[in-house]
Order: sequence, then structure tokens, then C-alpha cells
Amino acid sequence: MPAAEDVFTRRLHPGEWPFLQAHFERLDPASRRLRFGNAVTSAFIERYARNSFDADAVVLGLFVGGVVRGVAELRFISADRGEAEIAFSIERQCQGFGYGTRLFARMRDAARNRGVHRLWLTCLSENRRILAIAKKFGAKVTLLGNEATAEISGQHPGRGSLSREWVEETRAQIFEMIDQRQRRIERIFDPFDSVGDRATGTQARQ
Ligand SMILES: CC(C)(COP(=O)(O)OP(=O)(O)OC[C@H]1O[C@@H](n2cnc3c(N)ncnc32)[C@H](O)[C@@H]1OP(=O)(O)O)[C@@H](O)C(=O)NCCC(=O)NCCS
Repeated sequence: MPAAEDVFTRRLHPGEWPFLQAHFERLDPASRRLRFGNAVTSAFIERYARNSFDADAVVLGLFVGGVVRGVAELRFISADRGEAEIAFSIERQCQGFGYGTRLFARMRDAARNRGVHRLWLTCLSENRRILAIAKKFGAKVTLLGNEATAEISGQHPGRGSLSREWVEETRAQIFEMIDQRQRRIERIFDPFDSVGDRATGTQARQ
């Protein structure tokens, strides 16, 4: 499990659709099927990622070691924006560490803070993991054939949800700034490292 300081969640912006595409491409076949309900092609994933950032969407990325390893999506489904549908995906090597639960909590706060009072999640009924998470957040689960629907109602914004979202977004910005500075410093010192490496016969950093 990565160090806690290497993990943060922040909102993804429209220009970052390639992060979403790359994340979905890295999902193993079983996780992709659980996320989309069936097997999907790379062409579908590219189209889906490009179209995920319209005005009716909130997309959160879970960054682990600087890479988007998890995504939570919200789409408004009612004209008054009081109801929305949510979906989640975590890459296989990061599953089972509590990140899905963390993204769920983050998305619930984001939804509350945008005036959503009812959340819906649809998945395959075999998907015990996401249903277990949804139940932790008070979802009412209905199973119908191979499909399951989880409904979370009675959502209201509060000081807690507003401040949690603010703290997470600010924390993410600070971590990204530190990370970018670190990479800039590494780039500056890289030529010297290579010279040093040549002198000592060690392999240059990639
Ligand atoms: C579903 C998904 C988002 C969950 O994320 P995650 O990081 O693996 O989940 P977490 O580690 O936060 O929590 C998993 C919970 O499910 C529980 N769980 C796991 N397998 C279970 C099972 N077979 N039956 C019941 N509960 C189960 C765990 O005990 C855990 O709950 P706990 O924290 O109370 O112990 C992730 O596994 C994923 O991306 N899967 C593929 C795509 C997908 O299914 N998306 C959801 C459809 S929208």
C-alpha cells in the first residue's frame, strides 16, 4: 500500500480527459466489465472519456504516486439537478485498500455540496464490493435479475461536507505543486547525475 501522502483526490478538468482514458485502458477485463456492464473497446473508451466532462458531470480522480488509479463520476439525471447517477473504478492493484470507500465518501460530499439530494448507482448484481460500499453510506439496494440499483436519499450539504471538499481539493493542489517542483528540480540536476553516473560507471536514471 502506498504512503498516505502519495494519495490524494481532486476534481479532474475537461482538458484532463486523457487521464480518464488511460485509467480505463489500464482496468483489467473483469474490472472493466464490472464498471461498464459489459466488455468495451478502446474506441468506446476514448469516446466515453472525451465526452465525460460536459456541464452535467463531476469527475474525481484518485491519484496514487502521481497517477490516476481511481475515478468517481457523477452525472445529473433530473432537470432540477436534485438527482444524479454515480459510478466508480479503481485499478486492480489498488483495489481492496479502502480507496473505493474513500472516493465514495468524497463523491457523496461533492454531490451534497451541489444540491443533489438523491444518488443512484447501477451495477451488475454480482458486484458485491460496490454494493457493500454503497450500503455503508446508507443505500437501499434493489436486485432485479443481473442488475442492481442502489439509492441513497436524504442528502443535504452541511458545514462538514463543504469543509471536507475544500480541505481535500486544497491538499491535492499543495501535493501537486510539491510534486511538480520536485520533478523540475530533478530535470535541472539530471544532466549532472548523468555525468556523475558516467564517471562512476552506474546507469543513468530513466
Ligand atoms: C468496486 C470498487 C470501486 C471498490 O473499490 P475498492 O477500493 O476495491 O473497495 P474498498 O477497499 O474501499 O472496499 C471494499 C469493501 O467491499 C467489501 N467486500 C469485498 N468483497 C466483498 C464480497 N464479495 N461481498 C461483500 N463485501 C465485499 C470489503 O470487505 C470492503 O468493505 P470493508 O471496508 O467494510 O471491509 C473497485 O473494486 C472497482 O473498481 N471494481 C471494478 C469496477 C467496479 O466494480 N465499479 C463499480 C460499478 S459502478
